[in-house]
Amino acid sequence: MNKLRFGIIGVGMMGREHIRNLKLHPEAEIVALQDPVEDSRRRGIAQLGHEVPTYETIEDMLAKAELDCVLVVSPNHTHRRVLEPLFAAGLNILCEKPLCTTVDDARWAAERAATHTAVFWTGMEYRFMPPAARFIDAIRAGEVGRLVQLSIREHRFPFLVKVGDWNRFSRNTGGTMVEKCCHFFDLMRLIIGAEPVRVFCSGAMDVNHQDERYGGEKPDIIDNSFTVVDFANGARALLDLNMFAEGSEEQEALTAVGDKAKLEAFIPSGDLVRSPRVPLGAPKTPSRIHVPVDPTILEAGTHHGSTYYQIEAFIDAVRGRGPVRVTADDGLRAVAMGAAAERSARERRVVEMSEFGF
Ligand SMILES: NC(=O)c1ccc[n+]([C@@H]2O[C@H](COP(=O)([O-])OP(=O)(O)OC[C@H]3O[C@@H](n4cnc5c(N)ncnc54)[C@H](O)[C@@H]3O)[C@@H](O)[C@H]2O)c1
Repeated sequence: MNKLRFGIIGVGMMGREHIRNLKLHPEAEIVALQDPVEDSRRRGIAQLGHEVPTYETIEDMLAKAELDCVLVVSPNHTHRRVLEPLFAAGLNILCEKPLCTTVDDARWAAERAATHTAVFWTGMEYRFMPPAARFIDAIRAGEVGRLVQLSIREHRFPFLVKVGDWNRFSRNTGGTMVEKCCHFFDLMRLIIGAEPVRVFCSGAMDVNHQDERYGGEKPDIIDNSFTVVDFANGARALLDLNMFAEGSEEQEALTAVGDKAKLEAFIPSGDLVRSPRVPLGAPKTPSRIHVPVDPTILEAGTHHGSTYYQIEAFIDAVRGRGPVRVTADDGLRAVAMGAAAERSARERRVVEMSEFGF
């Protein structure tokens, strides 16, 4: 079987993680790297371990390289501009989250993707972390009964330094609630199986980036927040984000409580704990399982193996062996929830999703 020829657009931190993971897939071959920054192109080749043509512009790459698939791993605010020629070229596209930085641009991408005949996939790695995937499957299989409350906690390290410091300003990222939290809003929709109705977010930049200045400008990105989301089926969800908790033993904790049981998943330990309801006073009967990740795959990234498993599913979709599991519409709705949370935090009020046309 011919290998699929991949081009990588944006060869920064995440682009190099994709290179490491594509190298592990027997059906993938990287044939082109595109990045306007020379140092990134050089580091991309070093990561790949052999020479392939590199391009400064997407137009040059599309004119010269023979490609089947592209991964869009450039900064968030470039996604719309980058996607336009890729759609026109009819390529299979995996675009990293967030789909775009604004609801308008994300809506444009979703509308364009609806008429795209090749695969379009929004990168949402958290769905593919093995413990998270098991958590999702267990809830789908009815292990908590009727899901009523979902809470997602991420307590992690501050935003890393990026090429050109693009991630310090909301105008480039969409704001933390879009940039980082679109992952968790996507998980909420997937797990609850319904659409959000309203969002309340309390958050601010209280600890990180206080002394940083870029061209004299101070960053404006939230570093901690609580977000409550009401869903159309009556379920409610909470996101607890903290980005100055790099010492946390568990970076992510997912908790679902239904009318039959509570289920928790912890990452990176990979433990899942199911605690069924018991009659008052009866012994508690929690059960714990461990969901392992292949060590080679774990080592190829910083996202608990998910980058590989998502690429594997993307390739299955391109080959016609599987569905597109994260659509452009999923990407749009995650951006819209993030935008609602950003607006809620800044205006200190409940934001209805109808304000964004949903
Ligand atoms: N899914 C995840 O968990 C995850 C994790 C990290 C980053 N990301 C996403 O990946 C993307 C890149 O993030 P990063 O952390 O690698 O940033 P980065 O700054 O490390 O790398 C971005 C690269 O894109 C290049 N670039 C800038 N403009 C470009 C353009 N117009 N065309 C092509 N390349 C361009 C930069 O020179 C740089 O090399 C972002 O959308 C980010 O949100 C996703």
